[in-house]
Amino acid sequence: MITPKLPHIYYGGDYNPEQWPENVWSEDMRLMKQAGVNLVTIGVFSWAKLQSAPDRFHFEWLDRVMDLLADNGICADLATATASPPPWLTRLYPEILPIKDDGTRLWHGARQQFNPSSRAYRDASATLVRQMATRYKDHPALALWHINNEYACSLAADYSDETAEAFRDWLKARYPTLEALNEAWTTAFWSQTYYDWSEIIPPRQAPMPMPYFLNSGLVLDYKRFMSDAFLACHVNEERILREITPAIPITTNLMGTFGPLDYVKWAKHVDFTSHDCYPDPSIDPYGLPLTHDFTRSLKPGVPFVLMEQVTTHVQWRPRNVTKSPGTMRLWSYQAIARGADGIMFFQWRQSRGGVEKYHGAMVGHSGDDSSRCYRESAGLGGELTKLDGIVGSRVESQTAILFDYDNWWAFELPSKPSNELKYMEEISAFYWPLFHANLAIDFAFLESDLSRYKLLIAPTLYMVKAGVAEKLEEFVQAGGTLVVTFLSGIVDENDRVHLGGYPGPLRRLLGLCVEEWAPMTEDQTNRIHSDWLQADYKVGHWAEVIHTEGAEVLARFARDYYAGSPAVTLNRVGDGRAYYIGTKAEPRFYADLLGVIAAESNLKPPISAPIGVEVAKRCGDEASYLFILNHLEHTVDVTDERLSGMDLLTGKELSGRISLDAKGVAVVQTRCDSPSSLPG
Ligand code: GAL
Repeated sequence: MITPKLPHIYYGGDYNPEQWPENVWSEDMRLMKQAGVNLVTIGVFSWAKLQSAPDRFHFEWLDRVMDLLADNGICADLATATASPPPWLTRLYPEILPIKDDGTRLWHGARQQFNPSSRAYRDASATLVRQMATRYKDHPALALWHINNEYACSLAADYSDETAEAFRDWLKARYPTLEALNEAWTTAFWSQTYYDWSEIIPPRQAPMPMPYFLNSGLVLDYKRFMSDAFLACHVNEERILREITPAIPITTNLMGTFGPLDYVKWAKHVDFTSHDCYPDPSIDPYGLPLTHDFTRSLKPGVPFVLMEQVTTHVQWRPRNVTKSPGTMRLWSYQAIARGADGIMFFQWRQSRGGVEKYHGAMVGHSGDDSSRCYRESAGLGGELTKLDGIVGSRVESQTAILFDYDNWWAFELPSKPSNELKYMEEISAFYWPLFHANLAIDFAFLESDLSRYKLLIAPTLYMVKAGVAEKLEEFVQAGGTLVVTFLSGIVDENDRVHLGGYPGPLRRLLGLCVEEWAPMTEDQTNRIHSDWLQADYKVGHWAEVIHTEGAEVLARFARDYYAGSPAVTLNRVGDGRAYYIGTKAEPRFYADLLGVIAAESNLKPPISAPIGVEVAKRCGDEASYLFILNHLEHTVDVTDERLSGMDLLTGKELSGRISLDAKGVAVVQTRCDSPSSLPG
């Protein structure tokens, strides 16, 4: 449980009473209670309302909001309000304003216009946060802290002189000497050797334009540094909150796998993770389950919160397709099924003005309970009160996808044999077949305990840092199944090639050597044939010329100068298996491959269900909960003898069968499984 103050599924949204006259606030309370709201995020963008000069604070209105919430039994997820510095602050300290890579300064008038390395920004944030924490530390409504908002969402990098200084300090802490940096960045190439730290500048275009590809060590370290700079802003606030309110849990709203920030590091600085999730109904028929699994995996064993989603439609896409009736409910249950203990929205009441006035909300412009968005919100809020038992229960998975931000950044650095490969595409190629097979999926990170997994998939593990190959070998030796894909084992943590033959430190484990790469044009394809899978598959974009060194060949290329050479291999090591895939194949291949591997590893879904029906399971101390979600537009029957127990949403006892309407959901409480008796 995230906090004993609220032993229920959290339900509510971003509440921005500062946009409304006070006579609306009491109506808000009435509608919130009617909709089952028990938590609201307040103050996210209220800095300008809370402070009008360095020494002028205006907390009275927030006092009244907090009191009103407490009087109505609604908890506050109090935001630190530092996401958008007010104009008076950037007028006094223009150096807070960020500078783009072309040297342009960005002004206020939108939001999130701050340079994370700015001393003035960090000091002003710290002052505000200290004031807020001191004022509300004993307030009965205060349940959670919400630091800032979607760090780096609007602007993920800064190129100012102050940032350049901070970058040099960061480098001095990372490299013992300038010689060590020169070595790590291979600056001997193109006469880039630095003789003084002051010669190092951020990878910007101005005032010193860089005419061609930038040094990859510089670019990679800049990404790491920028992520750390944003994290330092978070820690700046976290430190104060922990000092003044040590018992109040802290979070910040993440954004799925968001590329610019290393959320694995971030997770150590929150008590629970939360994230914002905006699937596009026109292209994401199954919502965005990957982002829920990722957010949960950042903090193993701790529930997460879906901090923002929309009831109907957003306003920031070229066309903003609305969620059809039932979709918001279905996707909310998807988050809970995958480990969420809270369902929240942006926002409570639809704004009257400002750029988000056409963004959906729980209460629409009608202002009352007559709209579909309110009816659906209130319907879900009422249902969630039946799920108290689920709070704190866990998702247990025996399959994981290995994920590493440094690897992502290095993999997508320019100047490669193919500059069109995308890390998330390679991750998704495995994620979706696992999802459709209803196998629980964790994300694992380099520091994770791998012993709990039977299957570990490492898509394009391009960067292999010290100790990682040994860790993977240990996993396989002990009986694990590892799947590694093309372009793995290529560079060290400084993007320098592991010499001695690809895939470098993974060569022994995989039992093969990659002699060369053979990227294809957009129009080219090849085929692979597998006796093992008894099928042929189309492949494209990437192929490798592989020589086995102990591995068995499971599929071979059909055409081109490397026809007949291995495309998919298996190396048996200790008690386990290490598969290698040296190409990019059509989706059917991944589904077939994972089907066979799942059978070998005895990995099974909780129950069998037709395609289009998502099944996931949460395990509590006293019961397990089976979530059955019908993503289809028609009624389906799900039949399985393990489907027995009470559907908490209808109160009906099930024995082996359920019929679900289009977009229908069931949450079946079943007997408790001990982890050792989990399926598989
Ligand atoms: C998020 C943000 C919210 C709101 C929402 C709109 O990025 O945190 O404040 O802007 O998007 O979808």
